[in-house]
Amino acid sequence: MSAEIFDKANSILEAIKTAQPKTAEEIEQFRIKYIGSKGLVKGLFGEMRNVDNERKREYGQLTNSVKVAAEEKFASLKEELEAKLDNVVEQIDTSASGEPLTLGSRHPVSVTMNRIIEIFQRIGFVVAEDREIEDDWHNFTAMNTPEDHPARDMQDTYYLMNDPSMLLRTHTSSVQARVMTGQQPPIRIIAPGRVYRNETISARSHCQFHQVEGLYVDENVSFADMKQTLYYFAKEMYGSTKIRLRPSYFPFTEPSAEMDVYWGLKNEDDYRITKGTGWLEILGCGMIDPNVLENCGIDSKKYTGFAWGMGIERQAMLQYRINDIRHLFENDVRFLSQFKAAF
Ligand code: DAH
Repeated sequence: MSAEIFDKANSILEAIKTAQPKTAEEIEQFRIKYIGSKGLVKGLFGEMRNVDNERKREYGQLTNSVKVAAEEKFASLKEELEAKLDNVVEQIDTSASGEPLTLGSRHPVSVTMNRIIEIFQRIGFVVAEDREIEDDWHNFTAMNTPEDHPARDMQDTYYLMNDPSMLLRTHTSSVQARVMTGQQPPIRIIAPGRVYRNETISARSHCQFHQVEGLYVDENVSFADMKQTLYYFAKEMYGSTKIRLRPSYFPFTEPSAEMDVYWGLKNEDDYRITKGTGWLEILGCGMIDPNVLENCGIDSKKYTGFAWGMGIERQAMLQYRINDIRHLFENDVRFLSQFKAAF
């Protein structure tokens, strides 16, 4: 009886030594067959009770060497295979063509915003950026829009659920308060950034969009300074030498105005874009209300200033003839890849 069991162990040992599994799958089959939990080596150990007592020690040594042989073989097979796979990764075809090389492009909103920033930088404005999650004070109260002020209804606000004193800024005017509370005049900044309003999303309006705010505070700043600054912008951005300022209302400026740029009425498109008037409404502006200066710790007897705020999406849509604002937020590559030529 014992001899038979010894023969079996020896033939398994022989089979282990001569086996030549190559692929990952064959190697796994090898492992299962010999050292798996239901494998042949386990079976050999189970035969111990059938071995004559005086040969038990010898049999133990034999089965152990079968086990070690299987384990060592499996380990070295695995190592070999991994080395081979590593080599495959190293085998890069250096003669392969690098084409097509897909380049990204700037988003039309970024292109438009950068153009606007660049125009104002030329006349000495510096960029000031600040947070999108703002407190009520900087967004409204400091900007002369205290609680209960009817103008709060002009902008439908997203408040944070876990802290209703915090909100998503409804305009970049909040950056005016941030800058003026941190620095005394002269101040000459533009503040580009994203703003949020609880609006129904449609082809013409979105719950998120971008603005560029401007702020100029110093001694003896006049309405004429504002007019000249904004005229310069209209000329550079639209090549237009005609602007008009219509009286308007904003809580943070007095007097307030809205600026239109003359776009022209040369073709049918122009009629549609300007609703038949030839004029485009571009921004809101005005002389900073003394209350705003005082709220931010600036002496309103010594200093005056002007400010403006303009939306970016509408200007980008005009420039690129985009007819639905939602395109600007959907990141559809088929849409975006059309702007590769823009800078
Ligand atoms: N914050 C205004 C808005 O979002 C725009 C605006 C108007 C900004 C007049 C100004 C300003 O700085 O002076 O509609």
